[in-house]
Amino acid sequence: MNYPFWDVPIIGSGGVIAIIAIFHVMISHFAIGGGFYLPMAEAKALREGREDWMRTLRRHSHFFLILTGVFGAVSGVGIWFSIGLANPEATSTLIHNFVFGWAIEWVFFIVELTAAAVYYYTWGRIPDRLHLKIGWVYAFTAWMSLVIINGILTFMLTPGAEWLGVAGTGQESGAFWAAFFNPTYWPSLVLRTLVCISLAGIFALVTAARIDGFAEPKLKTEIVRWSTKWLVPSFVLMPVCFLWYLWTVPESQRQLLNLGIATIGQGTFTQVTRSALVSVMTSATILAVVYFTAWRNARDFNMGWAAAVLLLALGATATTEQSREMLRKPYVIGEHMYSNGVRRSEVEHFNREGYLSGSPWAAAHASESAGDAAPDRGALMFRGQCLACHTTDGYRPMKRLLQGRDRASIMNLLGTLHEYGENSPYRAFMPPLVGKPDEIEALADYLDRVVNAGAHTAKAE
Ligand code: HEC
Repeated sequence: MNYPFWDVPIIGSGGVIAIIAIFHVMISHFAIGGGFYLPMAEAKALREGREDWMRTLRRHSHFFLILTGVFGAVSGVGIWFSIGLANPEATSTLIHNFVFGWAIEWVFFIVELTAAAVYYYTWGRIPDRLHLKIGWVYAFTAWMSLVIINGILTFMLTPGAEWLGVAGTGQESGAFWAAFFNPTYWPSLVLRTLVCISLAGIFALVTAARIDGFAEPKLKTEIVRWSTKWLVPSFVLMPVCFLWYLWTVPESQRQLLNLGIATIGQGTFTQVTRSALVSVMTSATILAVVYFTAWRNARDFNMGWAAAVLLLALGATATTEQSREMLRKPYVIGEHMYSNGVRRSEVEHFNREGYLSGSPWAAAHASESAGDAAPDRGALMFRGQCLACHTTDGYRPMKRLLQGRDRASIMNLLGTLHEYGENSPYRAFMPPLVGKPDEIEALADYLDRVVNAGAHTAKAE
C-alpha cells in the first residue's frame, strides 16, 4: 500500500498533481465547450452564408485541435502518472471500482479525438452538412467523456452510503451505479457543463482577438460579441448550482466552509473559504473585464485582453479546484480512505499490529538497505502518513508548522493526532496517526531532528 512514497521537494507530490490538473481542467473543459461552439457557429455561418465566419471558424478549429489534442491529451496522461505515484492505493481503488467506467471513457476519448482531427482536416473538402455532423459527433462524445469522468471524480468526495456499506467486502462492483450516480453527481455535472460553456467563449476570444478590427470591423464585432454571450449561462446559473452542490456535500465536509466564514482568521478552516471567495471574485472580475473590453469595445479587443481573461480564468479554475480538494480533506475517498492511503477500516489494525510491518514498501526498503545504515523508522512513518499533504521544507512544511516545539511538545501533538478524539481540531483536515507506540516515538525523533536540526537531539539516537 505504501509504494513508492513519492517525495517531491518543495511543492510536494500534491503540488505536482495540482499544476498538471489545473491546466488539464482548463483545456479539457474547453475541449467540451468548444465542441459545442464550433458546430453551433458553423451552423449559423452556413445559414447566413457567411464566408468570413467560416474562415474564422476554420482558424479557431486549428487552435482548438492543437490545444485539446496535444496539451489536453498529454496533461490527461500526466494526471495518471502523478496520481499513480502520489497515491497508488487510491488510484488502484478507482481503477478497480470503475473498470467499465474507464473502458467507456476511453472509447469516447478515441471517437472524440478522431472526430476533432477529421473535423479540422475536412473543412471545404466534404459537403457542408456532413462536416457539420462530424462537429456534432465530436461535441456529443466530448460531453459524454465528462458524463463518465464526473461519476468517478464526484465519487471521491461522496461515495454514498450504498458503496460505503460494501467497501472492502469484495462486493463493491454490485454498487457500481450507486457509486457512480453518487450524491454530488448531478450538481457537479451541471456546474462543470456551465464551466465548459464559458470556457468555450473565453477561448474563442483568443481567436477573435486576432481578427483585424480595422480591415474587418463588422466580422470582428460580431464574433467577439457572439463569443461573449457564451459567458451568460454561467453568470445566471452558477450561483444557484453552486448552492445545490454544497447542499449535497455531507455536513461534516461543509463545516469546513462554514467554520471558515464564521472564523475569518488563520488556519486551515479558512483555506477552503479563502479559495472559494477568491474563486467567486475572479469569476466576477472575468465578467466585468469581458463586458468592458469585449462587449463594449469589440472592435479593439486585442490579444493582451484575451490573455488577461485567460489568466483570470486560470486563477478561477485553480482556486475552485483547490477548494474542492480541500473540501475532501482528510479523505481521498470520502469516509473510506484517508489522503495518505490508510483506510478508515485499517486504523485499528495498524495501531495493534504496527504500521511499518504492515507496509510492504517499508519491508522491502529494510531488506534493500541491509548492511547500510538501518532505515530510519521515523522517516518511513513520515513518508507513509504525512508526505501526502506535507513536506519538510516546502509546501505545508514541518519546519514551520512545528517551529518552536521541542521533542516533548512534538510528541504531545502526535499523541493528539493518534488519539483522534471527537473534539480534536485536527479531525477536520488530518487523518489519525496510526501505529504502535514505538513507531510514534520514532516519528517524534525524526520530526525533532528535522525541526530542531540537532539542537537538542539527545534522545534522537
Ligand atoms: C490529509 C492531509 C494531511 C495529512 C495526511 C497530514 N496532515 Fe498535517 N495538516 C494538514 C493540513 C491541511 C494542516 C493545516 C496546515 C496549515 O494550517 O497551514 C495540517 C497541519 C499540521 C500541523 C500544524 C498543526 C498546528 O496545530 O499548527 C502539524 C504539526 C501537522 N500537520 C503534522 C502532521 C503529521 C506529523 C502528519 C503525519 C502523521 C500529518 N500532519 C498528516 C493536512 C494533513
